[in-house]
This record gives sequence, structure tokens and C-alpha cells, in this order.
Amino acid sequence: MTIQGKVVAITGASSGIGEATARHLAAHGASVILGARRTDRLDRLVTEIEAAGGTATATRVDVTTPADLQSLVDLAVERFGRLDVLVGNAGVSRISPVADLDVEGWSAMVDVNVKGILHGIAAALPVFTRQGSGHLVTVVSTSGLKIVPTQAVYAGTKNAVRTLLEGLRQESTTGVLRTTSISPGYVRTELIDNAVDDPAVRERTRQHMADLGIDPTAVARAIAFVIDQPHDVEIGDLTIRPTRQG
Ligand SMILES: NC(=O)c1ccc[n+]([C@@H]2O[C@H](COP(=O)([O-])OP(=O)(O)OC[C@H]3O[C@@H](n4cnc5c(N)ncnc54)[C@H](OP(=O)(O)O)[C@@H]3O)[C@@H](O)[C@H]2O)c1
Repeated sequence: MTIQGKVVAITGASSGIGEATARHLAAHGASVILGARRTDRLDRLVTEIEAAGGTATATRVDVTTPADLQSLVDLAVERFGRLDVLVGNAGVSRISPVADLDVEGWSAMVDVNVKGILHGIAAALPVFTRQGSGHLVTVVSTSGLKIVPTQAVYAGTKNAVRTLLEGLRQESTTGVLRTTSISPGYVRTELIDNAVDDPAVRERTRQHMADLGIDPTAVARAIAFVIDQPHDVEIGDLTIRPTRQG
């Protein structure tokens, strides 16, 4: 089985990389189950995907709530009979030096970027085990590969997930589970909108993203590539960044 006919749940599907991935996979014949908090956006996306001949459904998911991830996985199984892939994409970023002590922002990043992935794993793994196959794809970041000032905590959360997936991979050599960490560089999305409080810094950062960032569809294609491999082939890590990114 390739992408055609696969059942793929995506967190953070209401904008950016998640939305682009939903559109791309649905256009290639996957049935997509979309989760995020902004359900108005999800509903619009489902309508657009279906109008284009695709198959999609959505439910409200706050990844900090384990029961919401369970509902996302349950919806996939109830509606389509199985879950082939969970794309753990939902994420938040707060950019500031550690010495600024943005304790609230740190907690938000840990809750969404790390615990959100763990909640997805808890919901999906039993289904994957029952089926005898499944694929966990997480969206981490080049921030974890090249550590830069103001992104220490964000990078830490992304590297926590990278480590988690490598550990899980080593525990899962029965051929049932595939794990992949995708590391995007700058991508033109809404991520920056809530990342910085200072309006001048936010505008500068937004401009930088707009100048340098790649289109989220590029990451969607990378996600499609890892999903599309035969089940005995696992792409563990994939880095995708603007050619001009340092
Ligand atoms: N843009 C980049 O340059 C870049 C680079 C590397 C990695 N990434 C990673 O890519 C992923 C997607 O981000 P993006 O760039 O596409 O930004 P985005 O447009 O801001 O999308 C973030 C998504 O996460 C969802 N989300 C946030 N908090 C959530 C929560 N508590 N529960 C459920 N969903 C939540 C948002 O949906 P709701 O607000 O509707 O819930 C939204 O759909 C993130 O993990 C990010 O860290 C981005």
C-alpha cells in the first residue's frame, strides 16, 4: 500500500504544515483525519478537500489533553476501520533568551511539543500493535540540529521528541512500527505570530521568515515521501530547509 488508501491522522491541521500535509495527502488518495483547536478552519478544510474529490473528517483536538488524541484515533478507526499513520505536527514556539524567564512559554512548549506527542503515541500505539502495522511521523525542527540563541527551550522540546522516537524505534524492531522525525528549517507559516511579544521583533522575524522560508507544501511532500515507502523501509530522519538557510 502506498499513500493511496492510507488512513492518516494529522494534529495541527488547521494551518501551515499540517494543513498543507492534509491537502497533499488527500490529493494523493489518503483518507485524512484532522485535529486542531480551531474547528472552523478544520471544517472549511474538510469541505475543500471533499469538493476536490478527497476524503477527510475532523475533530477538535487539544494535544495537551490525552482524551482528545484518543478521540482522534477513535474517529479514524470508527470511520475508516484503521489508522495507518499519525502525523504529530501540532507545535508552538516562544522565542526569547532563557534569562528572560518566560516560564509560561516554556510550559506551553513542553505541554504541546513534547507531551502532545506522547499523548498521540499513547492513543495510536495500541491500534498499530493490533493491526500489525503503523507509522508515527513527528515534525521536529532544524532548531534542534543547529542550536541558536533565543531558541534553547524550543530546540530542547524538539530534541526531546527526536530522542523519544529513537528510543521507541529501538524498542520496536518487530516490524510493526515505523518512526520518522522530519526536521524543517524556515517554513512560511503562522508559527511566528505567537512566538514573540515585542511587535518590532515579531515584524522583523516575520519578514525574515517571508524572505527565506519555503512553502509548507515542500514539507508536505517530504511527509508524503516517508509515508510512501514500502513497510519494510523506514526513513528515520529527514531534514528539509531553504537552500539559503545557514
Ligand atoms: N514554520 C517553521 O519554520 C517550522 C520549522 C520547523 C518546525 N516547525 C514545526 O512545524 C509544526 C507545525 O507548525 P507550523 O509552522 O505549520 O505553524 P502553524 O501554522 O502555527 O501551525 C501550528 C499548528 O499547531 C496547532 N496547535 C497549536 N497548539 C495546539 C494544541 N494545544 N492542540 C492542538 N493543536 C495545536 C495549531 O492549531 P490550533 O491553533 O487550531 O489548535 C496549528 O494548526 C510545529 O510543530 C512547528 O514546531 C515549524
